[in-house]
Amino acid sequence: MTDRVRESGSIRRRLLVQLLSGAGILALILFLVVQDFTKQLAEENQDNILRASVTSVLDAAAVQNGQITIDIPYSAFSMLGNVSDDRVFYKITQNSKFLTGYDSLPEAKLAKPLAQLQVSTANYLGEEVRLVTSTRLLSNAGVPVLISVTIAQTRNGQKQTLAFISRRVSMLGFGFFTIAAILTVYSAQSTVRPLRRLAASVSRRGPQDLRPVAAPVPREMVPLVDALNKFMGRLKKSLSQSEEFIAEAAHRVRTPLATLRTQAELTLHRVERDETREALREMIRAIDESSRAAGQLLDHAMVTFRTDYLEVQKLDLREMVCGLVENMRPVADLKDIFVELESGSAINIMGDPILIQNAVRNLIDNAIKYSPVESMVKLSFTYASDIIGLIIQDEGIGFPKEDRANLTNRFVRGSNVGGRIGSGLGLTIADDVVRAHGGSLSIENNAKGNGACVTLYFPSC
Ligand SMILES: Nc1ncnc2c1ncn2[C@@H]1O[C@H](COP(=O)(O)OP(=O)(O)O)[C@@H](O)[C@H]1O
Ligand SMILES: [Mg+2]
Repeated sequence: MTDRVRESGSIRRRLLVQLLSGAGILALILFLVVQDFTKQLAEENQDNILRASVTSVLDAAAVQNGQITIDIPYSAFSMLGNVSDDRVFYKITQNSKFLTGYDSLPEAKLAKPLAQLQVSTANYLGEEVRLVTSTRLLSNAGVPVLISVTIAQTRNGQKQTLAFISRRVSMLGFGFFTIAAILTVYSAQSTVRPLRRLAASVSRRGPQDLRPVAAPVPREMVPLVDALNKFMGRLKKSLSQSEEFIAEAAHRVRTPLATLRTQAELTLHRVERDETREALREMIRAIDESSRAAGQLLDHAMVTFRTDYLEVQKLDLREMVCGLVENMRPVADLKDIFVELESGSAINIMGDPILIQNAVRNLIDNAIKYSPVESMVKLSFTYASDIIGLIIQDEGIGFPKEDRANLTNRFVRGSNVGGRIGSGLGLTIADDVVRAHGGSLSIENNAKGNGACVTLYFPSC
């Protein structure tokens, strides 16, 4: 009878997505920042060495005997060699005229002549090179001479180092992300754990267990559990009120009606006038009708109430039906109807005995009511792998084909009722009861001969 709860996403998944994307973004930022930083560091390192190298070459330039001499110091290139196996090019010019080195080597653009040192990146002989240019003004016998030195170095070593560092940093980022993911999964699990525990403890309870939740819960869940406890308190109160009301109403309606009927019958025996006797008979019939209708209304209320809170136990369906048949035999005898119950061993099902008795009683009552005198009502069982059916067959008027689909609705009576009294609740009760037990009700007419064939299907245990 419970409606499916509408779902709007999952807290756990939401947490996982948010925390994991946060960790992913952080890992990516970490990777990019470290990579950028190391790249800058490597470039700076190369630039510094190139600068030192250029400066040492320039320092070696001198004027000797009216000649410009540059004795390139060994250290100028050896320090570059230390960095990696990269190729080194150089070019020296005197007053913009090529002196030595690689003539085609471009120079780093100097912002202005005699500017300090200039660093730039260029493409030389198909490779990217970092180059540093610097100048020095010498005086040769009073004539100014501008010496320009350019030293370039390829950047392969730097790229290799960067690729190596990138690999290391991506491993670091991946490791960071993995640890964050493990922590995320753990924290998402532990966030929803109290909710799961609460749900499990509430759903483990029996239908009658409406005690407040006593186990401690995290602060954020206190309002929910508080509301749940209050709701269960109200439910408990209203359930006990309904139960009391049903019992009280049944008692108050049935008792005076029974007294009235007894009085009417006693009076019927005392009076002699035919009109009075006829009037009393009418009265008894009306009392029967109201008593029956009241009984069924209350039964229906009870069934509706109880189907939500089934008190399920293991029971022997055959034994229960046998007891009912014995109880109802006097009613059947009034119409000379023979009620026959197929004999056999115990048939166990899980069910609420009060509800099942009510359902079967209504069906036997129908079978007797809609059958002619001196006929037979037959009760038998059918078994399938996981289903047990109780079949109630009579030799009466059978169900009208056209309204069979609606007969389980409340207060609906068939077109075949004639003068028979009833309130249209018997099949409703039977249907509600089997459904509450996870079974079904089948309303058919006998394949052979006359009469109805109603089957109650229950899951077997
Ligand atoms: N055994 C039966 N044979 C023929 N018709 C039946 C039988 N049982 C029920 N019905 C039809 O189904 C209708 C609904 O049954 P029920 O809910 O028990 O109401 P009620 O018996 O009070 O009329 C009845 O009015 C009748 O038309
Ligand atoms: Mg009925």
